[in-house]
Amino acid sequence: MVTICIASQKGGVGKTTTALNLSHSLSKRGWKTLLADLDPQGAIAFSLSERARQAAGYCQFADGSSPFDSLLLKTIVPTLKILTNGSKLPIGPKSESSEEDRKGIESLLQAASAAEFEVVVLDTPPGLSGISKGALSHADFILAPQQAEPLASRSVGRFFEALKELAELTGRQTPAAVLITMLDPSQAESVQVANELWNTLPPETILDTVVARNPIFIEASAKGLPLALLRPHPPAAALIFDQIAAEIEARLSLKKPDDEENVITDYLDL
Ligand SMILES: Nc1ncnc2c1ncn2[C@@H]1O[C@H](COP(=O)(O)OP(=O)(O)OP(=O)(O)O)[C@@H](O)[C@H]1O
Ligand SMILES: [Mg+2]
Repeated sequence: MVTICIASQKGGVGKTTTALNLSHSLSKRGWKTLLADLDPQGAIAFSLSERARQAAGYCQFADGSSPFDSLLLKTIVPTLKILTNGSKLPIGPKSESSEEDRKGIESLLQAASAAEFEVVVLDTPPGLSGISKGALSHADFILAPQQAEPLASRSVGRFFEALKELAELTGRQTPAAVLITMLDPSQAESVQVANELWNTLPPETILDTVVARNPIFIEASAKGLPLALLRPHPPAAALIFDQIAAEIEARLSLKKPDDEENVITDYLDL
């Protein structure tokens, strides 16, 4: 099982959007996927439905009041399940990662592995402390959405510094990459920022795929759907998440046994 943690220091950069759409793509590509919302603001549930908003989730698992299996929400994709946050308190993110957070995430990943999930995607609140720090410490891959806007390079620099400090603390070096989001090709500043990131970051720390700014994301979020399910013929922006999934699979060497066995040798069906 691999754990992908979606995190960033800043809020509103596209973490939840990425977590939902990437989880959908990974599950469609055949991975038994769990999307777990670690944000006490319950962003995933808010981007889904009223039923999801009422559902118990991670908090009830972590406090031992509900068993893991009973908390998983099925989706219309059989390979994708969702664990909402389930927080009933109007709390903001905590500043320090407590022992409780670390234990909660450890138990969550143990339960997910026992339930034979192959990929776990963790959506986190903004900031790299509190529960986010716990999630980052247990991840196999860290994806950092970064809005293509001025000052991005500075915040990306700080992000990697924070990861370095965390690695020193945990003794665990985790691959991490920036995903440029909300790129506006019609805006010179936005393009300039993306170029700056491509030119300054080592290639292993930035994905090739970029998510453009597109009002369709707001429409999908209002309907509580991944972009790919918005219409029978998904918009181009939805396919970007398949590409991101494929990039992450390659970086994590995630392969299905039949990837090598079931190779097509004849394109014609004669
Ligand atoms: N590529 C995009 N183009 C246009 N709007 C987008 C795009 N990606 C996300 N959005 C919108 O931007 C807003 C913030 O996105 P999102 O909630 O995913 O960010 P976040 O990083 O999870 O925020 P938070 O830090 O508060 O959890 C949402 O309204 C979302 O629909
Ligand atoms: Mg969010």
